[in-house]
Amino acid sequence: MTALVHYRLDGQLALIGLSRPPVNALGQPLRAALLEACERAAADPAVAAIVLHGANGLFSAGADISEFGSEASSAAPDLPGLLVRLTRIDKPLVAAIGKLALGGGLELALACGYRIGEPQARLGLPEINLGLLPGAGGTQRLPRLIGAESALNMILSGKQVDVQHAHLMGILDRLADNPETLIEQACVYARELLAQGAPAQPAARYPSPAVDLPEGFFAGFRAEQEARWKSRLAPRLVLAAIEAACLLPLEEGLAREQDLFRQAEASRQSAALRHVFFAEREAGRIPGIDPALDMRPIAKVAVIGAGTMGGGIAMNFANAGIPVVVLEQKSDALERGLSNVQRNYEISVKRGKLSQAELEKRMRLLQGSLEYADIADADLVIEAVFEKLEIKQQVFRTLDEVCKPGAILATNTSSLDVDAIAAVTSRPQDVIGLHFFSPANVMRLLEVVRARRTAPDVLATTLKLARRIGKLPVVSGVCFGFIGNRMLEPYAREAMRMVLEGASPAQVDGVLTGIDLNMGVLSMLDLAGIDVNYLVRQANKAAFADDPSYCRLGDELYAMGCYGQKSSFGFYHYEGRQRLDDPTVEKVAERLAGELQIPRRSLAPQEIHDRCLFMLINEGIQLLDEGIALRASDIDLVWINGYGFPAHLGGPMHYAEQLGLDQVLDGILRLQASLGSHGQRWFKPAPLLKRLVAAGRTRIEKF
Ligand code: CAA
Repeated sequence: MTALVHYRLDGQLALIGLSRPPVNALGQPLRAALLEACERAAADPAVAAIVLHGANGLFSAGADISEFGSEASSAAPDLPGLLVRLTRIDKPLVAAIGKLALGGGLELALACGYRIGEPQARLGLPEINLGLLPGAGGTQRLPRLIGAESALNMILSGKQVDVQHAHLMGILDRLADNPETLIEQACVYARELLAQGAPAQPAARYPSPAVDLPEGFFAGFRAEQEARWKSRLAPRLVLAAIEAACLLPLEEGLAREQDLFRQAEASRQSAALRHVFFAEREAGRIPGIDPALDMRPIAKVAVIGAGTMGGGIAMNFANAGIPVVVLEQKSDALERGLSNVQRNYEISVKRGKLSQAELEKRMRLLQGSLEYADIADADLVIEAVFEKLEIKQQVFRTLDEVCKPGAILATNTSSLDVDAIAAVTSRPQDVIGLHFFSPANVMRLLEVVRARRTAPDVLATTLKLARRIGKLPVVSGVCFGFIGNRMLEPYAREAMRMVLEGASPAQVDGVLTGIDLNMGVLSMLDLAGIDVNYLVRQANKAAFADDPSYCRLGDELYAMGCYGQKSSFGFYHYEGRQRLDDPTVEKVAERLAGELQIPRRSLAPQEIHDRCLFMLINEGIQLLDEGIALRASDIDLVWINGYGFPAHLGGPMHYAEQLGLDQVLDGILRLQASLGSHGQRWFKPAPLLKRLVAAGRTRIEKF
């Protein structure tokens, strides 16, 4: 028997252990080995029942994602066919679920007649996150086990459930006492089944899964969710598959699921989401840094500044059980900051997301202070003070004096020169940028800015710590705005300029939300603060001095005190949570266009799309060429997790590849020619883009 599967007999039982570390992904070789083992057990008259388990303690994380989109995905034995074969073995199969049963892993367990799980195991059908639906019977067998509505919710959410929950839902028949006794208890269970003369497959609990559903359930559900799903394909296919489970006999339902699955697998959206899956794992690998490098211990953190950002940053550590000191200059600012944190936690308690006891525990981990002496023993200090280089440098001079040797000194700057901040200390090797996104306790992205002299162990430690506090860290080099805000600059510039030329903010934003961005760029600036954006521009204004139209609309709104949502006026007018078009903005744009002699006209959606997105993409490619980003997929992660770029488009770099790099280059050159002096000044293709197209390359990579 191949090493991918362990096979052993225990009396009348055949124990079959999946052994393909790290997660028993059900790629073709493992499927073949599993089938062979099961056939052997089926054919052996001495075997009365089969216990299927993960030989390394973990059951299975599902199909091998790297096979999707290639022939290997459906190479014999394919997973759906293999599972149908298991359901036809006339001996009871018990799935002993350790650690994880996800996707095809859970479907494998569902094909077994009986399931037992250990207390730490988690179960789920996360295919939706990959733009897929369960494609090995999950959409047909799960509704028959737990009812159509529960199955639909579980598959659409993609969330994992714990064993207690899975037991209550009816997915698990039994709970083992602990991981160590799982296999033994699975064997006991199998013997009991044999003693009872239990059938190989028990009768379905919900032979008609739709039995409890109200009339018109599916049409109603679809209508309710349409807007939220935007243009996503997978949720619609999931719904169709569950509907099929309700309407068709099992065999036909399985065939229908196959059709729907193939449609999903072949879609651009699934390719994009699979790209994102691997991008997230790749982001943690830093060339030249040994993963086995010794980390610096982080037992205590300090945050300088108790403003919205500082408070949010501190919450991340308290949430992860790490003590954190928040330092402020004045006691009223400190009290305000800490009570904001408390209020945030209280909202979570009210929403049922946090217990009162947990709130109290987290607040106990947060200590306020007015004295730098209190942070002398911190292992990591994160500065979150006003975004001005001189102020931040002053803070770092003080940190250099008070902090213990070896402490990591981080700045939360969103754009400033981390090398210039590090340079005022006597220990630049300990300085790094940690750019949290607002709200810092919610947003998953963390830009980790590696300064020129940042030590490898400082980088490695912060990357590991970021994962510990639930963030997705992406490494950036030093430049104005790093990866995210530097790309935002030309993107926002074009949006503002197009309003001068005659588009309304709603038109510009509408094109962007039309391709499923969470928010148009102008709405985003209103949310982030037109004042904040203005001040960032001031810090870099020499770079744009030769264009009098440069972000003029933003400057003018700033001068008028229209700071966006916080002042109820910005690119839009806000009444409560409602965003309305503002005729004043139109008038201001008209006046500025007159002053700058910019002719006004109507702009087609395609032009809006190309000007915003091609400039975004072009800047990303330039960043890669400069080595600010390590890889194109890192840029995608920044924009998906920090700026609401839809994951099902794969991020701006992947989107550009889907559009065709030659198309992007042609578009930029066309705009360069058609937009007069504006086009000449700004629509310059990145040299790397030109090189890639000239070489006939279709992927964005440095070369
Ligand atoms: N296929 C291929 N590789 C996988 C995999 C899968 N299903 N799941 C994890 N891996 C790989 C990862 O790429 C990673 O590889 P590297 O070390 O080379 O980067 C390694 O396993 C460990 O994964 P993580 O770094 O993510 O480790 P973790 O402990 O943080 O998380 C996990 C483990 C929860 C299983 C997570 O990897 C995960 O969520 N995996 C995806 C699970 C999933 O979506 N399953 C459904 C697949 S689709 C399907 O099954 C369709 C169907 O119906 C037939």
